[in-house]
Amino acid sequence: MGKRKDRREKTQRYAAIARSAARSVLADAEIDGGHGGSPLTDDLLASSAHLAGLVTHSTGHELTKMKKFRFQLLHRWIAARREPCRVADVGGGKGLLAYLLRESGWQATVIDPFAQRLPAKYKDLESNRQIRIAESERVPRLSREFQPEMAADFDLLVAMHAHGCNIQLIDAAAELGREVILLPCCVIHEPILPPPGVHWIQWLVEYVVEKGFVVEPFRLNFKGQNIGLYARMGAGE
Ligand SMILES: C[S@@+](CC[C@H](N)C(=O)[O-])C[C@H]1O[C@@H](n2cnc3c(N)ncnc32)[C@H](O)[C@@H]1O
Repeated sequence: MGKRKDRREKTQRYAAIARSAARSVLADAEIDGGHGGSPLTDDLLASSAHLAGLVTHSTGHELTKMKKFRFQLLHRWIAARREPCRVADVGGGKGLLAYLLRESGWQATVIDPFAQRLPAKYKDLESNRQIRIAESERVPRLSREFQPEMAADFDLLVAMHAHGCNIQLIDAAAELGREVILLPCCVIHEPILPPPGVHWIQWLVEYVVEKGFVVEPFRLNFKGQNIGLYARMGAGE
């Protein structure tokens, strides 16, 4: 009788913990219009062995760019960091990142179940000018949810503020030895959740390292969830 009661109490306690984890994850998801995620504070960054280098020492000039320029900033970071290759922009939305990468000589494809047209224009951050994108322009798209086998056709998987596929993407890249660039935000439809009190990004970086990747964290100059993880197998350069 006593043992049965113990088991029941344990089950109830576990269910309460799981409910509270789900609530905190949902609360994160509600910040910033549903996909911004809660901010990863400098204190949390400092407490992470992998992310401590990202703590900002404010000069007053950081993070002045608007969130809408995140595609240009990520394009610039990727193009400066790596030779062009076959890249999938997973959860790529309208496809501006893929478009910019293609303009720089990359074989970029969007993987996103929600088919959308490219934007009509974007701001070029170097010249500070608006650049029009012709209505006839297209980027290759797979209008489906990301599936692990899709990773086989790419060298690099990029997912900026993507939903529902971060864990799948890391697992697939680990399995096939592909590179990954993640800018995670909130947790939506992921198969595994961080435990209560652990920030999604902090937890995700540990997950990536456990899978055998070497992780280079970076931060882009826009307001919002601007922390990226560049994960490669082996010792890197
Ligand atoms: C918040 S938007 C981000 C879009 C874009 N990367 C950006 O930074 O604005 C999330 C995108 O993930 C896409 N998405 C949702 N589930 C997905 C899945 N399982 N595989 C690939 N994309 C998915 C959605 O259609 C949406 O375009």
